[in-house]
Amino acid sequence: MSEGRDVEEIEVALLLEAIYRRYGFDFREYAPASLKRRVWRRVHAEGLETISNLQARVLHDPACMEQLLLDLSINVTTMFRDPSFYTAFRERVVPLLRTYPFVRIWVAGCSTGEEVYSLAIVLDEAGLLERTRVYATDINEAVLGQARRGVFPLEKMQEFTKNYVQAGGMRAFSEYYLADYDGAVFDRRLTENAVFAQHNLVSDRAFNEFHAIVCRNVMIYFDRQLQERVFRLFHESLARFGVLALGHKETIRFSAFADRFEELDGSEKLWKKTS
Ligand SMILES: C[S@@+](CC[C@H](N)C(=O)[O-])C[C@H]1O[C@@H](n2cnc3c(N)ncnc32)[C@H](O)[C@@H]1O
Repeated sequence: MSEGRDVEEIEVALLLEAIYRRYGFDFREYAPASLKRRVWRRVHAEGLETISNLQARVLHDPACMEQLLLDLSINVTTMFRDPSFYTAFRERVVPLLRTYPFVRIWVAGCSTGEEVYSLAIVLDEAGLLERTRVYATDINEAVLGQARRGVFPLEKMQEFTKNYVQAGGMRAFSEYYLADYDGAVFDRRLTENAVFAQHNLVSDRAFNEFHAIVCRNVMIYFDRQLQERVFRLFHESLARFGVLALGHKETIRFSAFADRFEELDGSEKLWKKTS
């Protein structure tokens, strides 16, 4: 390894240690390549030259940490992201959920909430919304605030509508929101039973037992060891026959927990806990 790369790795490790000790956010086991890219982006945005400079600023300036947190937590999301996932959810998961008198779903890493509203719409159309409580969590309080508000840019409605139709939506998508000067204000009913709360998958524990856990496009940023710990957390948090839903690029297949789940839908990454 070149000396430059060597030094860079030391700097990144020290920065992550500093963040952990000062603020309690633990990024030490995140996949390094994308982490480094994002750290450099913040170094440049702050007008600094080295990662060590950023470390000093982050330690003394919580506002800089807030910015860095936004950079590191990668909040990209959309409504009905991967429409085929929602079709599979309607076909394979909803019938299982129907068997419970009261349903609990954990949406882990919910970002600004688009996924939560999408699931709420699917549940509503399946007649399950009223008896379901969705626990929507994320490490990042700022995105949770947006998720709670449920107001999304009007410019996004075309994309959301297209995804909704592809996902097998049963109504006119516009029935779910009112266009305001502020943006598209989503129907309050969709999140009436939802709880939005900060939860860190790296350091926080199980907090309930769920019939389904949806954690899409989050584990992709974790290294193998951390993924394994999160799979343990999910396994502990699922009821027997509970469903785990991951993102298209994520899998439990190579984990030690693989044999405790049965595949419900291989391409849509749906598994059912069996033991
Ligand atoms: C790319 S977004 C995915 C959003 C949504 N699940 C989706 O698929 O569209 C990843 C989310 O994971 C959250 N996240 C990252 N690390 C986390 C952690 N340790 N605990 C909880 N959430 C985390 C980020 O804040 C971000 O909102």
